Amino acid sequence: MKPQELVLPTVAALRPYEPGKPIEELQRELGIGEAIKLASNENPLGPSPMALAAMRKALDDANRYPDGSCWAVSRKVAERHHVAPERIFMAGGSVEVLNLLAFLFLRPGLNAVFSEHSFAIYALATAASGGEGRAVPMKDGYYLDLDAIAAAIDANTRIVFLDNPTNPAGTIFRRAEWERLLERTPEHVVIVADEAYFEFVRDPDYPDSLAYHDERRMIVTMRTFSKIFGLAGVRVGYAVARPDLVSLLHNVRQPFNVTSISQAGVIAGLDDREHVRRTLEVNAEGMAYLEGEFRRLGLAYPKSHANFILVDVGDGGAVYQKLLRNGVIVRPMGGYGWPRHLRVSVGLPEENRRLVAALEKALGRAA
Ligand SMILES: Cc1ncc(COP(=O)(O)O)c(C=O)c1O
Repeated sequence: MKPQELVLPTVAALRPYEPGKPIEELQRELGIGEAIKLASNENPLGPSPMALAAMRKALDDANRYPDGSCWAVSRKVAERHHVAPERIFMAGGSVEVLNLLAFLFLRPGLNAVFSEHSFAIYALATAASGGEGRAVPMKDGYYLDLDAIAAAIDANTRIVFLDNPTNPAGTIFRRAEWERLLERTPEHVVIVADEAYFEFVRDPDYPDSLAYHDERRMIVTMRTFSKIFGLAGVRVGYAVARPDLVSLLHNVRQPFNVTSISQAGVIAGLDDREHVRRTLEVNAEGMAYLEGEFRRLGLAYPKSHANFILVDVGDGGAVYQKLLRNGVIVRPMGGYGWPRHLRVSVGLPEENRRLVAALEKALGRAA
């Protein structure tokens, strides 16, 4: 007997999440020593130095189990958002929260609604739970269509997943659309506002979903330490939600889902305002540079509000391979339904210049 016959058919048919290619892997393959990676929307400045120091110190107690309740971290995060600690759920990356929500609220016969071309984990987590994933087409090419998403909700919908900014397009939805969606969403639906790139957004009409929590609706706001704080490798994300929903998440999490090293790192990282400030500065400069260079090369892109940008290069797969051969890792978008596109994470100035030079060469535009 095959184990595949013993699990839900939707699970047996799943393909694992495809991450960005690791730098070491490309260096091994090419036998080179200086590849760069602009493929996973990481912080190019590295981790917060304050977080690093705290994590080094925490290693001394690595023989002890972590605080499974994340008492100190939850309090610190709660203070930052001016909410009660009972509303905070800490996890091993926000991806863990997505998986737990699907595990809790979905099963065969129920469905989750999300946008086509949104973060890949929504479809994966939904399929893993046996639920039906309803991918709603985007509007104007690159924008979440919140009205169409609201229209796709029915009596069997349990979750709406919304990434704002959305990954990989980098676009946002604004306050008026969000408020319309809230009005149209019935009370039996958990609304997940995945704000992994929240800190990068400068648009005055960008809605902070935290301002819309109340005891009637089930809104889950998700944030992460993987992006602006530069701690993707230590895996910490969190949800802010009603205490009764948070308590369900605790029922199904691993007993020690956030390591002691990670907890120490994020507590210190939260205070590192200088690292956050520099990250925003480097990102804004890099984004302006990449936009300018893409325009010069005649490449179309939607305006991004995050730390990455989606660009139409004609044949994403071919250009991706050519960039790899020049030691530059970006993300091909065929798996996201955009075979013409690449997603490029904003890097350090010299990394961005190297990407542009390799891109010019790949497109046959080099002088
Ligand atoms: C929209 C979105 N949500 C969540 C995540 C995952 O973040 P984490 O590292 O906290 O699991 C990402 C990472 O790329 C993302 O783009």
